[in-house]
Amino acid sequence: MTALPPFAFARIPDIHFGPGKLSALPQLIRRYGHRALFVTGSTSFVRSEAHARLKEKAIGSGIEILHATLSGEPSPEFVDATVAEFRGKQVDCVVGIGGGSPLDAGKAISAMLPLEGSVVPFLECVDTQKHDGRKIPYIAVPTSSGTGAEATKNAVLSSVGPDGYKSSLRHDNFVPDIAVVDPELMLSCPADVTAACGLDALTQLLEAYVSSKASPMTDALALSGLEHVAAGFLPAYENGANDLVARSHMAYAALLSGIVLANAGLGVVHGFAGPIGGFFPIRHGVVCGTLFGAATRANIDALRRDPVANRIALEKHARAGALLSGEATATIEDGCNRLLQTLDRWIAATGIARLSAYGVTRTDLPRILDKSNNKNSPVTLDRQQMQAILEARL
Ligand SMILES: [Fe+2]
Repeated sequence: MTALPPFAFARIPDIHFGPGKLSALPQLIRRYGHRALFVTGSTSFVRSEAHARLKEKAIGSGIEILHATLSGEPSPEFVDATVAEFRGKQVDCVVGIGGGSPLDAGKAISAMLPLEGSVVPFLECVDTQKHDGRKIPYIAVPTSSGTGAEATKNAVLSSVGPDGYKSSLRHDNFVPDIAVVDPELMLSCPADVTAACGLDALTQLLEAYVSSKASPMTDALALSGLEHVAAGFLPAYENGANDLVARSHMAYAALLSGIVLANAGLGVVHGFAGPIGGFFPIRHGVVCGTLFGAATRANIDALRRDPVANRIALEKHARAGALLSGEATATIEDGCNRLLQTLDRWIAATGIARLSAYGVTRTDLPRILDKSNNKNSPVTLDRQQMQAILEARL
């Protein structure tokens, strides 16, 4: 066994996991007071029976609900406007309910309510002010299994356009205080969103597992997440409305993906996702899902050029290949091949769109590459190798 590396592991939320757990939300809100600001998307959850039941139970528990709705991905302007609207209203806790976007919006709003002024100077791409970590207590309730935002310490805000960007508001204290992960809420998630979100969670698990910042703790959690992706990914995509077991596997895997990415970092797929999502209106999960196979192939090819120095990273890819394919693999080579075959099969089965479907052309590649990086990948791809990944998915 190799020597333990030094590592840090951030706090995780108080986790309430399982079908029906949404019903515990009113009691959890009462830990902090009686006035809750709900931040949701504008459509599916708000129109659901689960929302009506939750509202009734919350009101019955003496909770006053304030409500902010978001359409699309959260922008700094949305955060600033919502904070300005609710700053004087003595909000006791913020509750983000939805996919990654409402969860990140709620996280940023909870962090900005105690402060004066705009969120912009605190974003990593501006960084002219340091946030001191004060926030209103925050409860995250995911309704899709993807970003793992219910367990991460950053909120990604977007300004989409020719000079667009995605940038994070980040602090260890911004890890949600409570995560309520109820797989029943995911039953109504459409198949294409299920596929994109599932591939995002899988990308996060694998990138964190093979990351240069990985620790034995993140490895254990990432492997557990990968096992559950193997069990749940295709059934959740194919029959997600009726398969609560598959939804539970994926909800658990996504939660773990958030925990490991917060502690081990990510790789080149997420190094592309920021700039591409800033320039083009493409969902984060689609960017990750479409690039994941080609990027993993490029990483494995680069690692294979020096198999002795890269033995641990190759072994990890091979182990992920055995887990995801469900097949015993005799050699590292075989395991890596199984991983690539499984990813190719899943990406083809789900029909994840190519970048060109969103208007990305060859002439856009230089500006995407100018702003992309390898993050904590176990191998550094050069610009040409990174360009080949994009070209493979144009
Ligand atoms: Fe992601």
